[in-house]
Amino acid sequence: MEDHKETAQPFTKDHLAMERMPGHWVLAQMGKRVLRPGGMELTRAMLDALAIGSTDRVVELAPGLGATAALTLACGPESYTAVERDQDAAASVRSFVERHGGSCRQGTAEDTGLPDESATVVYGEAMLTMQTSAHKAAIVREAARVLEQGGRYGIHELCLAPDDLDEEVKAQVLADLSREVHVGVRPLTLAEWRALLESEGFHVQWTRTASMHLLEPRRLLRDEGLIGGLSFAFNVLRSPVARRRVRGMRRVFRTHENHTYAVSLVATKQ
Ligand SMILES: C[S@@+](CC[C@H](N)C(=O)[O-])C[C@H]1O[C@@H](n2cnc3c(N)ncnc32)[C@H](O)[C@@H]1O
Repeated sequence: MEDHKETAQPFTKDHLAMERMPGHWVLAQMGKRVLRPGGMELTRAMLDALAIGSTDRVVELAPGLGATAALTLACGPESYTAVERDQDAAASVRSFVERHGGSCRQGTAEDTGLPDESATVVYGEAMLTMQTSAHKAAIVREAARVLEQGGRYGIHELCLAPDDLDEEVKAQVLADLSREVHVGVRPLTLAEWRALLESEGFHVQWTRTASMHLLEPRRLLRDEGLIGGLSFAFNVLRSPVARRRVRGMRRVFRTHENHTYAVSLVATKQ
């Protein structure tokens, strides 16, 4: 099971109109599996930095469609537990990871219900960016509570650059992204992501940035493969609403590409 393309089964979110649906579910409905800004390349780099081994008890926050779960399970950890807020996604990830000895509970990352200091590794991708400041802090605090001392915490999120980005430009980027993605998109600068982790008792050991090319053709092919990429493109072309949504998101990502990046940080609990 080395290939991330073995993931949870797709599911239909027919209770939400595609017009109003959060952007990541529009992409998932169209067959996209990889929903994080730096793609699988940054995910693999983060997993390398986390160095998951056979004695690790791993918790993944917000696995989405489980694209990273397969890579983590391939490392043969002692345990793998995912916590996902969305009921459909949680059920889908559960049915996949249970076949490989893992589990997935429906719940929130800020209140996982997991015991104190029960994990050696916690990570989450493309899930803090969409939270308010208070929720970001609550989730990082929860990761610290669940981790044993010396445990590693990895994040992979959207990042604003440079660190001293003009406040007006920042506000415009956030407003434009949120309007097109249909959820509050609230990325931080690298310095702010670092400060957030440090404020909850983590020591940042590793950082890497990548371009925010989630919807660029080359990244799509790299992340989804030839068949997956073509099938995504075909599905989008067939649906006028999806076409409009995907074009809108790609346009705003391109408009702000000089100020938005993907970033991953790995930190240890002090
Ligand atoms: C953009 S998707 C990313 C999914 C996956 N991590 C990936 O990178 O492909 C965001 C995911 O975060 C989940 N999510 C958002 N807020 C959450 C929270 N507070 N607790 C748990 N899951 C959350 C959503 O349901 C969704 O699956």
